[in-house]
Amino acid sequence: MTYAVGAVDGPVVNTTALPAAPPRGVHVSLSGIRHGFMHGERVVHAIWDVDLEVNPGEFVCLVGPSGCGKTTLLGMVAGLVHPCEGRVTLGGRPVRSTSSETAYMLARDALLPWLTARENVELGLAVRGMARPERREIATEWLRRVGLAGFEGSSIRRLSQGMRQRVAIARTLALKPTCILMDEPFAALDAQTRVLVQKEFVSLWETDRPTVIFVTHDLSEAILLGDRIVLMSRRPGRIVADVCIETPRPRDLDAPFSNDGFEAYYGGLVSRLRHEVHGMESDT
Ligand SMILES: Nc1ncnc2c1ncn2[C@@H]1O[C@H](COP(=O)(O)OP(=O)(O)O)[C@@H](O)[C@H]1O
Ligand SMILES: [Mg+2]
Repeated sequence: MTYAVGAVDGPVVNTTALPAAPPRGVHVSLSGIRHGFMHGERVVHAIWDVDLEVNPGEFVCLVGPSGCGKTTLLGMVAGLVHPCEGRVTLGGRPVRSTSSETAYMLARDALLPWLTARENVELGLAVRGMARPERREIATEWLRRVGLAGFEGSSIRRLSQGMRQRVAIARTLALKPTCILMDEPFAALDAQTRVLVQKEFVSLWETDRPTVIFVTHDLSEAILLGDRIVLMSRRPGRIVADVCIETPRPRDLDAPFSNDGFEAYYGGLVSRLRHEVHGMESDT
C-alpha cells in the first residue's frame, strides 16, 4: 500500500507508472554457429563460433563489415539457411524452416509493383488465409499508422522510395510477427526520409515490442535505434563487441549527438568497426 506524501485521508492509489506491458517478442538464440560456403573446391568460412542471445522484445543492431555473415545469420533465424554447426531457436523451439512468427524486411522493399499499396499489405495476410474484408480492414489501418491514409489505392510505381518503405513496414507489422529481421532496411532512403521512417518504425515497435534484429552498416543508426549493438569481425564473422545502449528513449533521431551517451558509444565503437572494415582479411 502506498501513502501520498502529506496525505491526511489515509491510503491512496499509487500513481507511479504502471509496469509496461510484456513485449510480444520472442527469445532468439544462436549458439555455437559455424558456417561456410563452397567456392569451387574450397570451403570459405563465413561465420565462426557465433553465440548470441536476444531477449524477448529487444532491439538488437548487428553491425560489421561487408561479407562478415550478417545476412547469413538473419537467414538462419528466418529458417532460410541451416548452419553447418550450431543451433538456432526461436521462443525455445529449434528453427527448422520459415515460420509465420518471423518477418524479414530488406533494403529493397520487395513490394509487387503491379499491385496497390493496400494489396501489397494484404498479401501476407491473404497467404495466411485471412478473409478479404478482414485483411482489407487491417491493411487500411496499418497504412494509416505509417502515415499513408489516402494512398491505399495508389500503385506502388507511383510512390516515392520513402513511401514504398513505409508500405513495406506496414506489410511487415500487419503480420504481427514476434521477431522482425531487417537487413539494412533504410539504406536506400535519402537522409531526411530515413529519419522520418526510422521514427515511425521505432514508435510502432515501442507499442508492443516484437524482437528486432536489425542489420546496418551505419553506426549512428545502430546507436539511435538499438537496445544493444553487436559488432562482428571481418570474415569469418565472429562477435567482437556486444554493447548495451542505455540512452533513454525517446531518443532524438534528428540530433544524434544530443542524446545522452551517444558520443561515448560512437567513439567507443567506431575505431573497432573501422579496424574490422579496413583490416586485412584473415585466411581462415
Ligand atoms: N549462397 C552463397 N554461396 C556462396 N557464398 C556465400 C553465399 N552467401 C553468402 N556467401 C558468402 O558468405 C560470406 C557472408 O555473406 P553475407 O552473410 O551476405 O555477409 P554480409 O551480409 O555481412 O555482407 C560472404 O563472404 C559471402 O560471399
Ligand atoms: Mg548482407
